[in-house]
Amino acid sequence: MRTCLAIVLAAGEGTRMLSPRPKVLHQIGGQSLLAHVLDALRVAGQTRTAVVVGPDHAQVANEARRVLPDAEFYVQSERRGTAHAVLAAKAAIARGIDDVLVVFGDTPLILPATLGKLRAALTDGAAVVVLGFRPHDPTGYGRLVTAGGELVAIREHADANESERAIALCNGGLMALAGPQALAILSSIGSDNRKHEFYLTDAVSVARKMGLRASAIVVTEDEVRGINTKAQLAEAEAVLQVRLRAAALEAGVTLVAPETIFLSADTKFGKDVVVEPYVVFKPGVVVEDGATIRSFSHLDGAHVGKTAIVGPFARLRPGTKLGEGVHIGNFVEVKESRIEAGAKANHLAYIGDSTVGERANVGAGTITCNYDGAGKHRTEIGKDAFIGSNSALVAPVKIGDGAYIGSGSVITRNVPADSLAIGRARQVIKEGAAERLRSIKSAGKKT
Ligand code: UD1
Ligand code: MG
Repeated sequence: MRTCLAIVLAAGEGTRMLSPRPKVLHQIGGQSLLAHVLDALRVAGQTRTAVVVGPDHAQVANEARRVLPDAEFYVQSERRGTAHAVLAAKAAIARGIDDVLVVFGDTPLILPATLGKLRAALTDGAAVVVLGFRPHDPTGYGRLVTAGGELVAIREHADANESERAIALCNGGLMALAGPQALAILSSIGSDNRKHEFYLTDAVSVARKMGLRASAIVVTEDEVRGINTKAQLAEAEAVLQVRLRAAALEAGVTLVAPETIFLSADTKFGKDVVVEPYVVFKPGVVVEDGATIRSFSHLDGAHVGKTAIVGPFARLRPGTKLGEGVHIGNFVEVKESRIEAGAKANHLAYIGDSTVGERANVGAGTITCNYDGAGKHRTEIGKDAFIGSNSALVAPVKIGDGAYIGSGSVITRNVPADSLAIGRARQVIKEGAAERLRSIKSAGKKT
C-alpha cells in the first residue's frame, strides 16, 4: 500500500469575502469549506494530512482538528505563493511519502474519487499530475500548455501571452507529486514572474526539465470551483445542494420538489421518509424511517423519530428529540426537548427545555415559560397528560402523568398525577348587562 500525505493550503486571507472570518471557515451545506475538503480526504482514505495555516489562524487550526483530530499543522508566515505554502510542510514531505497531494482549502467540491485518480496517475509513472477543466470564463486561471499531447507547463493568467490565454483547458489548482521527487521539484521553483510568487504550477515545467513526466486529469468545472467571493460561495452552495438532493433521492427519500429543499452535508434520512416542498435542514438533523416533514418547516440539530409528522410550518431547534409517531404541527417551535412516542402538539405552541411524556396532548397556544430573564428552567409533562389550549406552564414545573390542565391556565406549581388544575380567573355572568351597557354607550354618543 502506497503512503500518502495530503497538504491542505489554508493560509489564504480571503479579503474579497469582506468578512472578518477566515475564508476557509465560510460554510456551504452547513459546514466549513475546510471541513468539506478534509472529509473528501478522509473518504479517499489512507492519508496523513498536513494543514498549512497563516500566522494568526488558530480558528482554522481548531476547525481542522475538530474534523481530523490527527491532522498536523504548519505555519506559512508570509504569503509568498502556493509552492512556498506547500514547502511550509517540508518536514512532513521529507519523512518519505509515496504520494503527495496538494489540495486547496477554498475548493470544497472536490470528489474523493478524483483524489484517487490523481494518485493512480502517479502510480502510472507521472511525477506531477494536475487537474484540468474547461471553465465558462477562463480569466484568472492558469492555462495548461501542451506540446505533442504532453503537458509541458502551466502558465498563470497574469503571465500568459495572447495565444496562451486562448487555451481553454485550465488548471484546477490541486496537484499530486511523486513523494521521492517532490522536494527536489518544489525547491527548484523560482519566483521569476509578474507576482514574484513561488507558483506551485511551475512544478510541471521544473519536472520536465528534470526529465520527469507530467500529466493532467480532466474534471468538471464544478469540482474545482475555488471560492474567493460571496457570489462564488453561493454558486458552490447551489452545486452542493444539487449533489445532496440527488444523494437523498438515490437513498430512497421522497423529495416532492427537490429544488426547494435545502440540506446539510450531514443530514441523515431513514427509509421511506417524505419531505414536502420548501423545507430547510440545518446541521445535525436525523429523520428516521417513515417520517413526514411537511412544507415550510425548519429543522436544526433535531432528531425525528419513526413515522413522526412535522409541520407544515414547524421549527425544530437544537436538542429536539421526537419519539415514534409524534406529531408537531403548524407554528409549533420545539427546543432542547424530548417528546416521547405518540405525543402531539399540533398547533401554535412553544416547547422549550421540556420533556413531554408518551401520548400527552399539548393544546393550541401552549407555552412553556422556560426563561425568567435570568436562567432557563425545565418543564416536565407526564405521559397521557392533557394540556388545555392557551396554557402557560411556568418553569420549573412538573405536570404528572394523566393530569389535565384547564384551558387558559397559568400553571406555576407542580400538578400531581391524574389531577385537574385550573389556574385562571373564574367566569362571571351578569344577566342583561350587555343590553344595559349598549344603551349607556349609545346615549353618550353624539349624533
Ligand atoms: C491557483 C493556481 C492557478 C489555478 C487556480 C485554480 C497557482 C500559482 N495558481 O491560482 O493555476 O488556475 O488556483 O483555482 O497555484 N495559498 C496559501 N499561501 C499562499 C498562496 C496561496 O496558502 O502564499 C492558498 C490559498 O489560500 C488557496 C490556495 O493556496 O487556498 C490557492 O491560492 P490562490 O491565491 O487562490 O491561487 P489562484 O490565484 O486562484
Ligand atoms: Mg483561488
